[in-house]
Amino acid sequence: MIQPHGGKLISRLASEEEKNFYLSQSLKKIFIEKDEALDAEKIAIGSFSPLEGFMTEKELLSVCREMLLPDGNVWSIPIILQVNDISHIKNEEKILLVDKTDNRPIAVLQVEDIYRLNKKEIANTVFGTLDENHPGVRRLYQKGDYAVGGKIILLNRPDFPNKEYELDPAETREIFRERGWKTVVAFQTRNAPHRAHEYLHRLGMEIGDGLFIHPIIGLKKEGDFDSRTIIEAYQVLINSYYPHSKVLLAGLSTSMRYAGPREAVFHAIVRKNYGATHFLVGRDHAGVGDYYDPFAAHRIFEEIPDIGIQIVKFYNVFYCSKCEGIVSENTCSHPEQFITKISMTKIRNMLSEGKKPPKEMLREEVSQFLIENFYLITEDYR
Ligand code: ADX
Repeated sequence: MIQPHGGKLISRLASEEEKNFYLSQSLKKIFIEKDEALDAEKIAIGSFSPLEGFMTEKELLSVCREMLLPDGNVWSIPIILQVNDISHIKNEEKILLVDKTDNRPIAVLQVEDIYRLNKKEIANTVFGTLDENHPGVRRLYQKGDYAVGGKIILLNRPDFPNKEYELDPAETREIFRERGWKTVVAFQTRNAPHRAHEYLHRLGMEIGDGLFIHPIIGLKKEGDFDSRTIIEAYQVLINSYYPHSKVLLAGLSTSMRYAGPREAVFHAIVRKNYGATHFLVGRDHAGVGDYYDPFAAHRIFEEIPDIGIQIVKFYNVFYCSKCEGIVSENTCSHPEQFITKISMTKIRNMLSEGKKPPKEMLREEVSQFLIENFYLITEDYR
C-alpha cells in the first residue's frame, strides 16, 4: 500500500473524553465558514496529510513561494483559516472553531501564529492572477485579512449535503486492501461524466487494478453541477457500463479552488492519501475560464520534486467520426471537420435548454438522467 504524503496518515480526531473535556471549558470561539469546517475535517481524517492544522505564516509563505512545506514535503494550496478580527485571539491559547452555519463546535485550534495575509502574493502565486472575477481569488479577497495558524483536534464532523457518499482515507485504504488492488488509479472531477471523462476512466481501469472515481462534493462556483447530480449521474454510468469490481465511487467534500496546475498537484497528493498509486490529469485540470494554459497542469509535475504518486497525462480527448469513436490528439490524425469537441459548457447549455446532448458527447443513459434531474449550483460557493 502506498505511503501517505509525508509517510504517516494524520489522525486528529478527539476521543469522546477529550471532546467532553473541551466542550466543558469556556474556550473563546471563532465562527468559521463551511469550507473551513470541511477543511478542518479533512486535516483531522488525514486527507491533507502531513498537515495537522491550519497553516502558520511560515508554512503559507513556503507553500506560496516554493510549493513546499517547511519540512520539505511538496504542498501547493494554502490551507488557512481567515479571520477579520484578531483583537481577542492570543498566541498559544486554545480556541473553539464553531461552524457559523449551524453553531456546531467543529474543532479546537491550538494557536501557534496570528498574522496578516498578503492576499496579493497568495493570489499571484497560487492562482496566477489578481483578477477578482476568478472564483478562487474572489473567495480569498472576500474572507478575512488575517489568518490564525496551529494544530487542530476535531470534535465533530461538519454537517454537509451528500456526506453519506464520502469515505475517509483509512476506509478507502481498507477497501483497496480487501479488494487486493495494488495499483489504484484516481480520477478527480467536478462534473457529471461525459465521454471524454469515460476515455480517461477506461484507460485507468486498463492500467490499474482499480479505478477510484472521487468527485468533489464540497463548495463550488455558480454554474457548476450540484454534487448529488454528479454522484447519481456517476451511478448511472457505472451501473450501465463499468465492471463493478473495478470501480470505487466516493465523494470528497472539500471546496474547488479553481487553481489549475497548483490544484492538480493538490488533487494528486490528496488522492495519494486515500491510497491511490496513479492520478489522471487531462486537459485544463481544475481550470476556469481561460486563466490557465490547458496543459500547465501537466508541466507543473515536471517542475516539482517527485510526489510519490504516478501522474497519467491526457491531451485533448474528443469524438472523431472518421475513427468512429472517442480518441485523443495522441491517437487520431484527422482534420477538424471530423472532430466533435466534448465540452461541459456546451453540454450544460444544451441541458439548460432542455435539449439532449449528442451521444458522441454524453451517454444516452446519462443524458436521460440529467434531463430529468439536472440541477446546477445557482449561488457561488454553496
Ligand atoms: S476538473 O475541474 O475536476 O478538472 P472536470 O470534472 O471536467 O473538471 O475534469 C475531470 C478530469 O478530466 C480532469 O483531469 C480534466 O483535465 C479531464 N478532462 C475533462 N475533459 C477533458 C477532455 N475533453 N480531454 C481531456 N481531458 C479532459
